[in-house]
Amino acid sequence: MSPNKEFWSSSKGFVLAMAGSAIGLGNIWRFSYIMGKYGGAAFMLVYLAAIFLIGLPIMLCELSLGRASGKGPLEAMTELAPKKTKLSFLAAVALILCATAFALKGLYFYAGTCGFFALGALLFGWGFLGFTVTFLTPLMIAVFYSVVGGWIIVYAIISPMGRIFREPAFSAELLDNIVTASGSQFWVTIAAALAFFLATAFIVMAGVQKGIERFSKIFMPLIFILIVAIIIRALTLPNAHEGLRFLFLPDFSKLSAEGVMAALGQAFFTLSLGSGVGIAYGSYLGRSSSLPKTACTIVIMDTFASILAGLAIFPLLFSTGLSPEEGTSLVFKVLPVAFGKLPLSPLWGTLFFLMLLLAALTSSISMLEGAVQGIMQKLYLSRAKAVILLIIVLGPLVPLTAVSAANYSNVPKLGQFFTETLKLRSESFFAILDNTTCLWLMPLAGLMTLLYVSYVWGNKSALEEMNCFNAFDWLFSKMWLFVVRFISPVLVIMAFLKGLGIFF
Ligand code: PFF
Repeated sequence: MSPNKEFWSSSKGFVLAMAGSAIGLGNIWRFSYIMGKYGGAAFMLVYLAAIFLIGLPIMLCELSLGRASGKGPLEAMTELAPKKTKLSFLAAVALILCATAFALKGLYFYAGTCGFFALGALLFGWGFLGFTVTFLTPLMIAVFYSVVGGWIIVYAIISPMGRIFREPAFSAELLDNIVTASGSQFWVTIAAALAFFLATAFIVMAGVQKGIERFSKIFMPLIFILIVAIIIRALTLPNAHEGLRFLFLPDFSKLSAEGVMAALGQAFFTLSLGSGVGIAYGSYLGRSSSLPKTACTIVIMDTFASILAGLAIFPLLFSTGLSPEEGTSLVFKVLPVAFGKLPLSPLWGTLFFLMLLLAALTSSISMLEGAVQGIMQKLYLSRAKAVILLIIVLGPLVPLTAVSAANYSNVPKLGQFFTETLKLRSESFFAILDNTTCLWLMPLAGLMTLLYVSYVWGNKSALEEMNCFNAFDWLFSKMWLFVVRFISPVLVIMAFLKGLGIFF
């Protein structure tokens, strides 16, 4: 059975599905807390540079690979060019060196991870990159994303009652219990995370056109309408200009090496790069669309969505005298208090969390699609059976991650097992999944994809695949050629070195 009997019904459907994948918790939940943590506008400038100099070129690589192979990430890396090349061997050697350096520093978890990747690269060459972006990265993200999705479900359900907005003491305790999965909310948090995960799986089960495309076509416009309504409310509040200042006036003294790495990670996360989505979704795209135009549209829509989210959240925070430095719980803890200070708070609060839920779902479906496609191809299973297999394998990890989100304060024995027995430092499973994917796996896979397209598959083949229709496409593709070879890989490597504190 060929899974690629499926196609998007139109180019517009494809753009909305890709934008649906890109626009999600990354633009609203993650973007706002990371901006708050790393200093606002200065961070935003680095982030924008990363989006246009690294993110956009990589997205074009992924879309061309996907459409050229017609088969998705698992096969694209093995069918279009030789599996093992000098470059894949060199990557393995670099990983072995990293593993040794980590081992010498006593960081055995990281040493083991690098060793695992080195072995994969030696044994399977570029096929291992395909495996990573098909299964490892997107499924790890799907697990921690479901936990946050679960929090949103709970918030969306309790928001209309309005009590969380009216009574700060009640809301602080209740909200704390949800995020930390403790007290009477323990089972609620677990059930909500599982509900989010299962909802995602069922949409994917419905198929490319009837599930993913239909869902994105209906809800993406609604998300934009809801966010604009909230922005209008936020910008008409007193002191809203402080939020705008935070968002648009850079203070470079606040920008750290860690901030630069975070900006890079955020660019990858928000565009769903290095996780197989562009390749999987690109493989369902017909030959008639021009890839440069499509990629630019998706990236601009996503960047616009992040700026809109900032325009809604920061003026709201500053006008209510609250701090943007709250961390992962910013949207969940601080915003309800901010909404509580507005007239008609249950209405605004409910609208906000509903929007967040829809945005999260259109993204999470894209995390499972590549893996489902890969399972269908390799194990000759139907879509439904492939999804059920994923539910069985990933399902148990979702509650485990949900209870770990607050550093196991609610389940100390489990905490001891991870931190003392497995020596996973003091980080929770939730933080490990978030950090490893955004800061390491996605940028590394992105870098390897750039190298694969430039030096293994070849820019020429990628250019042919792009379908340049007019002067814009042509000019853009020439610039792309240069950026992909000489700029993006160097920038990613520099950001890595800076993040590791080795350079600058
Ligand atoms: N781009 C999504 C967001 O901003 O929320 C997150 C994401 C989706 C990451 C799909 C990775 C992925 F494969």
